[in-house]
Amino acid sequence: MDKLKQPEPNLEPQPNPSYRIWVEDAGDFSLDKISLLRHNYHEHPLLQIDQLEKLAQKLLPLNQCRFISPGATQQSEFIHKPKSPDGRDLAEVFERISEPGSWIALYNAETDPKYAQLVQEALATVEGLISKEQPGIFSPQAFIFISAPPSVTPFHIDRENNFWLQIRGQKIMNVWDRNDRDILPAPTVENFIIDKSLNTVTLRDEFMSKKFEWDLGASEGVYFPSTSPHSTRTTEAWVSPENGVSISIGVVFYTETTRKHAYIHSLNRFLRRMKLDPKFPGESKFDDIKFTLGKVLVGFKKRFRSYTPPTGF
Ligand SMILES: [Fe+2]
Repeated sequence: MDKLKQPEPNLEPQPNPSYRIWVEDAGDFSLDKISLLRHNYHEHPLLQIDQLEKLAQKLLPLNQCRFISPGATQQSEFIHKPKSPDGRDLAEVFERISEPGSWIALYNAETDPKYAQLVQEALATVEGLISKEQPGIFSPQAFIFISAPPSVTPFHIDRENNFWLQIRGQKIMNVWDRNDRDILPAPTVENFIIDKSLNTVTLRDEFMSKKFEWDLGASEGVYFPSTSPHSTRTTEAWVSPENGVSISIGVVFYTETTRKHAYIHSLNRFLRRMKLDPKFPGESKFDDIKFTLGKVLVGFKKRFRSYTPPTGF
């Protein structure tokens, strides 16, 4: 029986001294900037393939194992389904995981208390970097991606700040500046934050010259802030008979700042529909007032429009 104490919602996480995330220059790190990371989570027993298969067995009935069809490109829509597209069961998916083009993602690994503890411990190791800029961490989560080259995770954005760690094999990570409004027009961000819509998040050829790109191996990672466009792909260059599987984990979280911005986005979309041109969150001296008005607006929508805000509000 598992003797680990299960984390409680308000328990202050303590770092596990065996595993940690760090940056080369903490003075240069900002939660608003894309940064390279180092870590040793590739040695963590819970992130080895046998344990991940056990986790997947728990997540499958909850529709938290996600699959994409082979042949996706960076430009594809990021559509993932709760069943393997070729009808394989989970045991077979893992048995054949090193076959070219395999792709499975384990969403919200923190549903399992052991992984909830892993996420809390991992964030505790960078708590100082986070809280000096954005106190009030909430909803820590983990997303684990297992794939065999050639495979791609298409261009998309996420709502959370992300400490993204490569655990096994290699992966090429592309990230774009979230403040580039040619790539991410303000209404696109608003629709995503308010309604989870990725409909207008599209990678165009002219964006390729603006990407940051790293070829990352185990023990390396990238931090990128909420709504930074990103895409990953694996090539066969590093594959050996013993190792052909790439594993990465996104350790993600919200803060009181991302919450404030979510409410300001809600107000901004309303103002935009009134033919106004509101400033992006963080750019207006009236942000505190906009935050309050955003809360009133969202409260109204919840009460009279049956609106259920996504996580992050
Ligand atoms: Fe993502």
